[in-house]
Amino acid sequence: MGRIFLCPVLALCLLPSGVQGDGADDPFVRATAAVEAAAPRAQADPARPVFHVTSPAQWINDPNGPIFHQGFYHLFYQLHPFSDASGPKYWGHVRSRDLVKWEPLPIALWPSSESGEAEIWSGCCTLNGRGEPMIFYTSIARGRSAMDHAEQWAATSDDTLLHWRKSPANPVLTEALHGEKKIYDWRDPFVFHDGRNTFLITGGNLNQAKGGQAVVNIYHAENPELTQWTYRGVLFQHPDPEARTAECPNFFRLGKRWVLVVSPYGKVQYFMGDFDATTCRFQPRARGVLDSGPNFYAPNTMQVPDGRHLVWGWVNGFPGGHGWNGCLSLPRQLSLSRDGQLRQSPAPQLSKLRGKPIKWRNLSLADHDQVLSLPKTNTLELSIRIDLQTAEAVALEFRSSDKQARPVELRFNGSELTVMGVKKPLPLAGNAEELSLRIFLDRSVLEVFANETVCVTKTITPLAADATLAIHAQGGHGMAKLVEAWPMKTIW
Ligand code: FRU
Repeated sequence: MGRIFLCPVLALCLLPSGVQGDGADDPFVRATAAVEAAAPRAQADPARPVFHVTSPAQWINDPNGPIFHQGFYHLFYQLHPFSDASGPKYWGHVRSRDLVKWEPLPIALWPSSESGEAEIWSGCCTLNGRGEPMIFYTSIARGRSAMDHAEQWAATSDDTLLHWRKSPANPVLTEALHGEKKIYDWRDPFVFHDGRNTFLITGGNLNQAKGGQAVVNIYHAENPELTQWTYRGVLFQHPDPEARTAECPNFFRLGKRWVLVVSPYGKVQYFMGDFDATTCRFQPRARGVLDSGPNFYAPNTMQVPDGRHLVWGWVNGFPGGHGWNGCLSLPRQLSLSRDGQLRQSPAPQLSKLRGKPIKWRNLSLADHDQVLSLPKTNTLELSIRIDLQTAEAVALEFRSSDKQARPVELRFNGSELTVMGVKKPLPLAGNAEELSLRIFLDRSVLEVFANETVCVTKTITPLAADATLAIHAQGGHGMAKLVEAWPMKTIW
């Protein structure tokens, strides 16, 4: 893989006039130099994923502000440019013409220390009523606790989305909007449109004294520039008392339903139901977990021009000390099944990353291993269709010569899927008479999609480039109707 970092000189040239020039004290220059300095070590790390979006180096967390604009998919992400551990956040930036190949871009936003800003937290990117690209994010002030005090700020750009200027109207939303009501952990603005109305939602919690009760708040835009907002109350109060907060709320229409996604410190949840734009209340009717693995959090969604919805999450849980930490999940396409369930599948464009496949058809499975030699790499995609027939369960295991690497194990018993110890109900119902798996192994990242219903993301110790897949049936006979394995190319 070639070097993927943008040289700081080029990065500076891409800055708007008036932003650069303060030399070594300039936060952009310092941050860019820190990422650049860490890049050789990060990029030499054999565990660093190659077909998942990440920063050229250093710590990243949430995906922010995905938007399709003027022929490019843009993604921003939370970046701590000064180390591979969490610290004060900036916004990193990448873009792609096709969701396949990605281009790293200069850091998009950094704290305006002259205005007392210490961190640029998560948010969204939209076009305002004047057609101007606009980022909304949570601004954390120097010396203040994010739990107790936050403001929502905006920045605008020209059409390249490379150059951002903080809005003169900042802060565009303050706690004063809430009157007497105190909202803690007030953050992560997300803008959506309904008819001619533009709304913004934020996450947070009430009753901090009792440990916090998660709520999503809603605001209505009062001007086309999106700098004036009125508070319309609580869109959604989480039904579980143990849900302490609702980070990174996303809200969008999918078919006839509205979908609300929240990150309540634990597994990411979605709620589907009805939205009344007049009362600004959401009535959830169904719920689920977006990803059952331990390492997927704070996702962000976008609608692409053909109407499809994509989602990216933050993949976390990597070991520290390698010059990088964190990546984004693969883009997932969201849809509704005929019976109204949320479906997730890898974005179809990802198939362009596939190299030459190896295929096996109609392998009969019994209580001894069928051992398949995979393409000689540890960046792989597999697509597997299994009919359980008379078997009680089927077990799959990826093994390699690296004995440090714990084998990647999956098991399916007709009603439950287990992926490396993570158990999740997966009943075979309706049309799904067989197990259909898409498995992505990108060095230290594992992403599994089962019957487009269950997703499991997990960090792993990379396999060596000589992996085999062993499959066997338990308590009867089964059939692996099709196993396809592809070596995967880099996205850079
Ligand atoms: C979620 C989160 C957001 C916040 C950001 C800070 O992981 O805690 O709520 O804006 O990360 O990096």
